[in-house]
Amino acid sequence: MSRTLAKILVFTLVVIGAFAYLGQLVPQFVEHPPQKVVITTTTDKADLAEFGKKLVRGKGGCLVCHKDQETGNERGPDLRKAAAQAPSRKPGTAAEDYLIESLKEPGAFVVDGYPNMMPAAVKPPAKMSMAEVKAVVAYLQVLAGGEPSVTILPEDVATAAAATGPVHRGRALMDTHACIACHSVAGEGGAIGPELTTVATRHEPATLLSKIRQPSTWTAEGFPAGVMPVGDAIPEGDLHEIVAYLASLAGKSYSATGATSPWSHEGLRLGLVILIFNLGMLLVLVLARRGERARGGASHG
Ligand code: HEC
Ligand code: HEC
Repeated sequence: MSRTLAKILVFTLVVIGAFAYLGQLVPQFVEHPPQKVVITTTTDKADLAEFGKKLVRGKGGCLVCHKDQETGNERGPDLRKAAAQAPSRKPGTAAEDYLIESLKEPGAFVVDGYPNMMPAAVKPPAKMSMAEVKAVVAYLQVLAGGEPSVTILPEDVATAAAATGPVHRGRALMDTHACIACHSVAGEGGAIGPELTTVATRHEPATLLSKIRQPSTWTAEGFPAGVMPVGDAIPEGDLHEIVAYLASLAGKSYSATGATSPWSHEGLRLGLVILIFNLGMLLVLVLARRGERARGGASHG
């Protein structure tokens, strides 16, 4: 009997050990969704050009007519030369302005020998924001061996938000609760507090919630403490909407139920741990029963 007990004890320890080992492995399964590129007035020029390259090759649909490498379509001029030729294309128009115009209003200057067929990049199907147009121009400049000269202005970012369609409820609630008086999002609003377009790339959405409820949670660098009003009178649902909006600007998802949802990483992790624990216990019981039966059989036979 004591041998059975000892066996159970050893087995339980093994199971708990395995369970602890797996437990510390599991967090590695947590996936972080790729972060959406958010162009802001402070985006690094090299990143801007890199983003422009993605636009030209993807959403922009530019390669249907142009090429940006040796092989490709030639319905339109070779994009590798565009920035180098820009200074001499349209008299009285600076290179950067010409490139921006050739995307915004391709018909304003039609390159010799080509038909006026290019759709404006700011209209469907590409439907780029001004910030995206400037990112493409940065790419064209780099492509021609130069340095990006474009500057993203607050209004370029504002059109980026406007271009994405209906107003998010969280954005509307930032008007309702006057956040906009002190903060700007996507180029609109005040400058008493930090710009919030990218705040969710710096802080997890759940911590933003506690910051809005209780501003003393932390103080953003370079800004005065005690200016932001306590938000505990803001209805819970409104807080969640605002946080969901700020999270979406950073390409993150946020749900009010968050960690308590069975489909969240937290919930799955807990479920897995419970499953492993139960399987282990079941195994211990089965083995104990077997051992008992084997001994019982021996004493009878
Ligand atoms: C349906 C074909 C078509 C598509 C799609 C198209 N273009 Fe064009 N593009 C042209 C043609 C044709 C010209 C030359 C005539 C003109 O100037 O409008 C041109 C001209 C240009 C120029 C001026 C080049 C120079 O050498 O002066 C630039 C820059 C340019 N396109 C960039 C783009 C970018 C970036 C995209 C994607 C957002 C794009 N184009 C999409 C056909 C197209
Ligand atoms: C009277 C001005 C004012 C109002 C109104 C205000 N804030 Fe703030 N907020 C600030 C200031 C100043 C800071 C920076 C100092 C600090 O962290 O407390 C800040 C910081 C923040 C931060 C942290 C930013 C970071 O980069 O760390 C968030 C998030 C935030 N506010 C969200 C909101 C939201 C959402 C609202 C509306 C419900 C709001 N604020 C209303 C002034 C304000």
